[in-house]
Amino acid sequence: MTKNIAVIRGDGIGPEIVNQAIAVLEKVASLYGHTFNFTDVDMGGCAIDKWGDPLPQEMLEKCVKSDSVMLGAVGGDKWNGVPGEMRPEKGLLRLRAGMGVYSNNRPAKIWPQLSSASPLKQSIVDKGIDFIIVRELIGGIYFGEHKTDEKNGESQAIDILSYTESEIERIGRIGFETARKRSKRLCSVEKSNVLDSSRLWKKVMHRLSEEYPDVELSDMLVDNCAMQIVKNPAQFDVIVTENMFGDILSDEASMITGSIGMIPSSSLGDGSCGLYEPIHGSAPDIAGKDIANPIGTILSAAMMLRYSFGLENEAQAVENAVSKVLDMGCRTADIMPSDKGEAEKCRKISCSECGRLIVENIKKQ
Ligand code: IPM
Ligand code: MG
Repeated sequence: MTKNIAVIRGDGIGPEIVNQAIAVLEKVASLYGHTFNFTDVDMGGCAIDKWGDPLPQEMLEKCVKSDSVMLGAVGGDKWNGVPGEMRPEKGLLRLRAGMGVYSNNRPAKIWPQLSSASPLKQSIVDKGIDFIIVRELIGGIYFGEHKTDEKNGESQAIDILSYTESEIERIGRIGFETARKRSKRLCSVEKSNVLDSSRLWKKVMHRLSEEYPDVELSDMLVDNCAMQIVKNPAQFDVIVTENMFGDILSDEASMITGSIGMIPSSSLGDGSCGLYEPIHGSAPDIAGKDIANPIGTILSAAMMLRYSFGLENEAQAVENAVSKVLDMGCRTADIMPSDKGEAEKCRKISCSECGRLIVENIKKQ
């Protein structure tokens, strides 16, 4: 199989983690006889510095024309002063919208090797943490009108949150389809006691549920959901929610699994070209130090193999290699146990060593 992959290293730790994911994809290609062609794309702060634009049009076109996009992270304090439209994050939002990837899939799963890294009580962790957040990615308040003007002699800032029925329906279907492949339980998260957009969300979800009689639909208010995720995460299997709620809840969900550095994501639209990125940010404070955790990015590469290229065995080979390296007690700094006794059983490794060990442990399934 030959695939063209657009590669966005981005800012901060982006380049170092993406380099490890590319090494993983190259190993998969050589083991299984595939050809992956990589094309560099500038996006984020580095694109602002080079081109004066966080996502120049020709960069977006390279991504849209590719078979899939691998992304590290964008942003950093250096570009905090630039106007909203020109921020590094705006490049990411334009990329998501330009690729039409409305469905963002963020798994929150605890690796058995890391159960002591969760900040939750062991009795809660032992009940199991394995759920997915299906986040709407190209609508809602992120893409509504944004403006700052004057009102009665002071500044006023406005961000509009709107959803159409069809935008809710298409992500709702992904939620139901995802639940259908798992435990057949779907939790729709909104704020229907306050927001019109959430009332419409709830109505559309219930209308859709008639088409999925085998899936049990429940509703939960977002504030309650934030609480339930730390109180009893085992109750969740698939959560479907709007853009900003999904952003916030997925950070919370990732943390209870031990480290945000472990969590991959896929973003898909109606075609097979997807955007694959870890859910963490660019961590400028540790950039260039070779201490970041590349596993979230490597697992995103595994998701690319599975969801965009249909290469299930190859995806599993990567996931098994990650598991093997964790079994060996190798840990990047973010997942080193805080308990001294536990830490003595582990070995602290760098970002590049972590990538190299995973590559070495990829075996044909
Ligand atoms: C994420 C990030 C982005 C988002 C930022 C960087 C724009 O937090 O992918 O979760 O809010 O979607
Ligand atoms: Mg986020």
